Amino acid sequence: MSAEREPIGVIGTGYVGLVTAAGFAEVGNDVWCIDIDADKIGRLEAGEIPIWEPGLKELVAANRERLHFSTDIGDALAHARLLFVAVGTPPTYSGDADLSAVYSVVDAMPASDDHALVMKSTVPCGTGAHIQRRFAETGKAGFCYVSCPEFLKEGSAVADFLDPDRVVVGDDGDWAGQAVVDLYAPLDAPLVRTDIRSAEMTKLASNAFLATKISFINEIANVCDETGADVVEVARGMGLDPRIGPKFLQAGIGFGGSCFPKDVTALKQMAGNTGYHFQLLNAVIEVNELQKRRVVQKLQKHLGPLTQKKIALLGLAFKPNTDDMREASSLVLSARLLADGAAISVYDPVAEEEARKLIPGVTFAESALAAVAGADAVVLVTEWSEFGELDFAAVAGAMDGRLVVDGRNFLDPVAVRGAGLLYEGIGRPSPRRVS
Ligand code: UGA
Repeated sequence: MSAEREPIGVIGTGYVGLVTAAGFAEVGNDVWCIDIDADKIGRLEAGEIPIWEPGLKELVAANRERLHFSTDIGDALAHARLLFVAVGTPPTYSGDADLSAVYSVVDAMPASDDHALVMKSTVPCGTGAHIQRRFAETGKAGFCYVSCPEFLKEGSAVADFLDPDRVVVGDDGDWAGQAVVDLYAPLDAPLVRTDIRSAEMTKLASNAFLATKISFINEIANVCDETGADVVEVARGMGLDPRIGPKFLQAGIGFGGSCFPKDVTALKQMAGNTGYHFQLLNAVIEVNELQKRRVVQKLQKHLGPLTQKKIALLGLAFKPNTDDMREASSLVLSARLLADGAAISVYDPVAEEEARKLIPGVTFAESALAAVAGADAVVLVTEWSEFGELDFAAVAGAMDGRLVVDGRNFLDPVAVRGAGLLYEGIGRPSPRRVS
């Protein structure tokens, strides 16, 4: 069997599963995509893509004949020996990862010496060992196990899959680890072949480090607010040091999404369960929670009590180029503003449908200009590119008040101020005149 053309199974057709499936189909593999959600499978078969991810629809359409959709895991088992697991591992009330979907897949596997589970879902370190034990205890010791964590980012997931920074494969040195390595060979990415626990930990540590970088720059921004320095300039100066690097140094109103909040908490809990108190991550989480609320203080500073003030939120998704609302900063911000008695109008170019399910009591507008009409203040929450092209003279004309809070330091302060508006960024105090 040619390594490039080995058929594979992918269980779970969410962001990670569907992108992985379409990506491998693009490389030339036949892919059996399995999901328990019959409605989703029906939509996928009809050519509909249940999530908004740039380039995914086109990639699925271009490789339609190599993609097979089914609700029956047996279809994947019959055609493929490598079964990628890409099911959700959401947080539980205790902050640990909920592995029930992972274990439903594990328990659905038959005894076999010819198959392997390849774990893409983010799981605590030690999960692989636990699954191997479970296989051994249920007469399925021949079922192989590989950890192959996913590092793709929503919004650029297709490009990230096809051109990864690295591929991490954790295995026991059996045929399955080598088969996964061969599968990724056409992508020509740096390979980290390691043991299963180290692969699991690499994923958690990567996300926790990136989240730490964001909370760090957010704290620097808060100090900039007090001292008159501009965090954008500070980050530019820091980022040129190759040991620091320029990425993930954008201060803002906090990180969200389905990964960072969950994975940072899961790593903290996992460490705690072993008896180690991961101090640093407590701070990362707390800084992020406070950061989402800082905008409220900025609004109060200019507007006084927010009761009956009209606030427009531009962008709702946790970041641009996605309709994903999970742990979006807009959820906390809108709830805080509503609790303070403000009237809120919102606009997001893509996430409105998802947002309507989660944000009650706000008015959804059809455009940015419609959202800002009559507003006392505008808050940029998500840096969609179209907000960078806003006509601020028109914005100023439509608003009642003058305040623009740029929650992502995305707008051009000169353009905003030039339209007669008051610009407030995150860690970007008004320039001080040098006399
Ligand atoms: C993140 C990681 O970047 C991926 O490598 C990883 O595979 C993924 O989690 C996962 O575990 O599945 P993602 O959640 O899609 O990807 O989004 P990011 O682009 O990392 O952004 C996360 C959050 O951080 C967003 O709310 C974003 O606005 C915020 N952020 C990012 C900042 O506030 N500042 C920055 O400088 C960068």
